[in-house]
Amino acid sequence: LSQMQVATRSESKKLIKMKRITKNGALVTDGGEKCDPQKDCICLDGHPIAYQEYHYLMLHKPAGCVTATEDRRDKTVMDYLPDNLRRGLSPVGRLDKDTEGLLLITDDGALNHSLLAPGRHVPKTYYARIHGIVTEADITAFKNGLDIGEKKMTAPATLKILHIAENEQTSEILVTITEGKFHQVKRMFERIGCPVTFLKRVEFGFLNLDGLPTGEVRELSSEEVEKLQSY
Ligand code: URA
Repeated sequence: LSQMQVATRSESKKLIKMKRITKNGALVTDGGEKCDPQKDCICLDGHPIAYQEYHYLMLHKPAGCVTATEDRRDKTVMDYLPDNLRRGLSPVGRLDKDTEGLLLITDDGALNHSLLAPGRHVPKTYYARIHGIVTEADITAFKNGLDIGEKKMTAPATLKILHIAENEQTSEILVTITEGKFHQVKRMFERIGCPVTFLKRVEFGFLNLDGLPTGEVRELSSEEVEKLQSY
């Protein structure tokens, strides 16, 4: 009941005590009652509870938390999920501690793995503030690939200049990459001599934050999950 977000674990126990839960038509009296979600029909007040095998969440990650399931020192992205939705879920890829933005979290290991597979090339778009002036030549360099110390040059990336502040020597840009190498965006800008001072992922594939407030999480719709599966 709690995994299907019908109620918290303690509320679920109360629902059972109040005789509001049935399994295959028979009243459930024991909070420890086991069920096979593929076969058994669990009802609340006579209404069947739809079973969902996996959960797919989008978090607007704030800066200051690490992309991990647990950490002894820092707050993790999992701390932003409701209690009943933490077990078995893991982030899809990672954002640095100081990076904000769109992070998918799921317990569908196959989808998690496939979205990160090198051949998959899911586009990820970042908004960044940069120290230095980004130029047209940099747009070409990003398109052609950069040597960031990996075996291969980076795959073609799309760089768009949003705003240049000559006086402050800062630039605002959008960059779309299809890989996910360690600190990739920061390393690409380091390579052109312009360090990143702020980084936020605004799109993952076709998904965007669409007004989701920082620190908030939402479940993906089944249409969104199907679209992700077709990448
Ligand atoms: N690139 C980075 O440098 N950091 C991130 O968190 C994501 C992409």
